Amino acid sequence: MFLTAIITASDKGYAGERTDESGPAIAAMLDENYRVVSRAVLPDDRKMLADEMRRLCRQSMDIIFTTGGTGFSERDVTPEATMDVIDRQAPGISQAMMFHSLSVTPKAMLSRGIAGICGHTLIINLPGSPKAVRENLEYILEPLKHGLEILKGEAGECGGSIR
Ligand code: MTE
Repeated sequence: MFLTAIITASDKGYAGERTDESGPAIAAMLDENYRVVSRAVLPDDRKMLADEMRRLCRQSMDIIFTTGGTGFSERDVTPEATMDVIDRQAPGISQAMMFHSLSVTPKAMLSRGIAGICGHTLIINLPGSPKAVRENLEYILEPLKHGLEILKGEAGECGGSIR
């Protein structure tokens, strides 16, 4: 069971001018291995986003998904807030999402999302639209489970036979 938090970064969502569909889109894709215990809609504010991520790491969350704020607008600072919090990067996750997303749309290259580890918590940035959320998550959820088990110290040996 992975303790899970979802953060939506959206000025409009925070102001109540837009309904958050991306946070729910993440939750809808997670199977019974994930227990979503925290959801937040925050403005595109680097400090507020980083503070919330730190708080969730202290609460021993296994994984934090963020959605939104990964693009080129001046207000898009989710990757920077994530960098402020993580100790180690996990670039393969964002590269895998990019690889798959580019097969759907070349506009995927406009997401600057990163992934990394803060203590025992993995943080993954997803783009902001529900469509993008689904296209990114569908490719990583299967292998992600193994990564989270390793992070929790619950996984067995990775490899098969010795070569
Ligand atoms: N990735 C996928 N798979 N599908 C998409 O439609 N949209 C892109 C990109 N990543 C998209 C995607 C677009 S148009 C933008 S601007 C960036 O994500 C950044 O989105 P964000 O600022 O909402 O995080």
